[in-house]
Amino acid sequence: MDTVAPADAVARLKAVVGPKGVAEGADAEPYFHEQRGLYRSVALAVLRPASTDEVAKLVTICAEARLPVYPQGGNTGLAGGAVAAKNGVLINLGRMNRVRALDALNFTITAEAGCVLAELQRAAEAADRLFPLSLGAEGSCQIGGNLSTNAGGINVLRYGNARELTLGLEVVLPDGRVWNGLRGLRKNNTGYDLKQLFIGAEGTLGIITAATLKLFPRPREVETALVGLKRVEDVMELFARARTATGDQLTGFELIPRIGLDNILQYGEGFREPLVAKHPWYALVEISTSRGGAHLREALDDLLAAAMEADLVQDGTIAESETQRRELWRIRAALAEQQEKLGGSIKHDVSVPISKVAEFIVRASAAVSERLPGIRPYPFGHVGDGNIHFNLTQPPGAEKAVFLKRWAEFNRIVHDIVVALGGSISAEHGIGLVRRDELAHYAAPLELETMRKVKAALDPLGIMNPGKVL
Ligand code: MLT
Ligand code: ZN
Repeated sequence: MDTVAPADAVARLKAVVGPKGVAEGADAEPYFHEQRGLYRSVALAVLRPASTDEVAKLVTICAEARLPVYPQGGNTGLAGGAVAAKNGVLINLGRMNRVRALDALNFTITAEAGCVLAELQRAAEAADRLFPLSLGAEGSCQIGGNLSTNAGGINVLRYGNARELTLGLEVVLPDGRVWNGLRGLRKNNTGYDLKQLFIGAEGTLGIITAATLKLFPRPREVETALVGLKRVEDVMELFARARTATGDQLTGFELIPRIGLDNILQYGEGFREPLVAKHPWYALVEISTSRGGAHLREALDDLLAAAMEADLVQDGTIAESETQRRELWRIRAALAEQQEKLGGSIKHDVSVPISKVAEFIVRASAAVSERLPGIRPYPFGHVGDGNIHFNLTQPPGAEKAVFLKRWAEFNRIVHDIVVALGGSISAEHGIGLVRRDELAHYAAPLELETMRKVKAALDPLGIMNPGKVL
């Protein structure tokens, strides 16, 4: 096949999407920016298709011209998965933002990849349904990106990751053909479950253009508590009690460390000490049910009273209104947003079996402190899923840039402990560029070989988001 000159291909690509679908100059800036500030995209063009047909045409041209394709959703990812390189084109799905269908009786919604997560939640709510995926970036992240990274968030405990919420997908394959797998079935045993390949593939196997997703009954009763505890072991003991004592109505169970609370009290706006005394650890506990008159408040009161009696919980507060509930969750959200205020932060997004969470935090904190006295572990997050954002804040007064140069060194210390405990080096943020070398280091050779075979089978030209994941 004759190769197509990149300039000719770019002209054809621009013609496919028309002037509205091309972002140039200052308009292209938001797509080049990277959340962590670790990378910056460059690209031959930023293209914003308006339909699956346009995406298919773009990918066909890119395949002919052997141009790398960098798919991008809301560009809120935390692992550099949506970063483009200079010899390729960035395809942003943001204009494909329609809800195509909502089937209330089937408890499903079908939406295009560029649909903002919060919009999807609102569409479900308008039909008296719940779309439970919820995370900090929900006001701007897009469902296509959520699925491509198998996003987690604060409701995984009850409803599962993005993967568990997906019934069907529409995908533009690396040769430009469209696979229509938009089925709304709970049961379907017809060969390989292809959609699962594209979920969490970070755009390396094709571009997700639409999805059929599960909906749930909307919660009628929600109870939320913030409790203070002495030891992280107590937090996890409370978790087990909360699951059992509430009839498995536990929806969220998040860890907040004292260092995080101190940070947001100092640098955040409108926060106050939530409990009378200070505690080393806090748990944000939420239970919910779609059944009215379920008396969840009683269940929560009983749970906390018993936990205080057993000296597990030291103190606590239960939200008395939706406003108070939002205030408690605002503390949790600010933990992530405000952590840079303390200086350089080396990130980890790990998971271990729930039974090993406390051991992991204790062991990893000791190991990093031994390597660099004064380093400040800032572990928070979804401990009910065994997922800890084990971030490391620089020692006070240290040089930020010098500290951040030790990123790989501290990753290795922390990830060695994670793997020894049977855990994973990326629980919800993905591999992208940030953890690619760590995946290569820790994945079993047969696992990597099988992943490479899948990649080669679907994308033999290697044009889909090259350099990411593998
Ligand atoms: C969170 O749970 O707040 C995020 O996944 C963590 C982050 O933004 O670092
Ligand atoms: Zn998280």
